Amino acid sequence: MSVKELITVPDDILRKISEPINTLQVNEKKLIKDLFDTMYHHNGIGLAAVQVGILKRIIVLDVSKNDNEKKPLCFINPEIKKLSKKMSTYEEGCLSIPNTFLEIERPEICTLSYIDENGDKKEMECDGLLSTCLQHEINHLDGKLIIDYLSKIKKDLIIKKLSKQKTSNRVIV
Ligand code: NI
Repeated sequence: MSVKELITVPDDILRKISEPINTLQVNEKKLIKDLFDTMYHHNGIGLAAVQVGILKRIIVLDVSKNDNEKKPLCFINPEIKKLSKKMSTYEEGCLSIPNTFLEIERPEICTLSYIDENGDKKEMECDGLLSTCLQHEINHLDGKLIIDYLSKIKKDLIIKKLSKQKTSNRVIV
């Protein structure tokens, strides 16, 4: 088991665009395992590789609420093909933005193509929490965060608050 350190706002790496994966090799498989370990350890339901500081287009998810019945899902190079006009709203949190929950409106249904952890090309249509989560994580791969859905004033306030929290733990001796 390997739990990685989470990268949080305002770290600049969270704003970078992640690179597509060409071949699935030992390194990527190890990374996928680490992402699952890290996500479960922090009780998250989704995690993108960039959140542990690695700019690769890999996402892990588990939106099952039952601890006894885990449903781990891995998406490599996910690409959104279609979004519904109908919208839905969830209160979203993010492992990279501690103690912040925001109501975000997103298309309710999304269709995407991706590569699974075995290297197989897949396509799927999803709705509900899975759709919201996938869109949230794909945003991470493109350097976009939930605070970007806010007005600039509100966004700056949150960044300022989180920056202060960070420095308040810093001790210089
Ligand atoms: Ni997030």
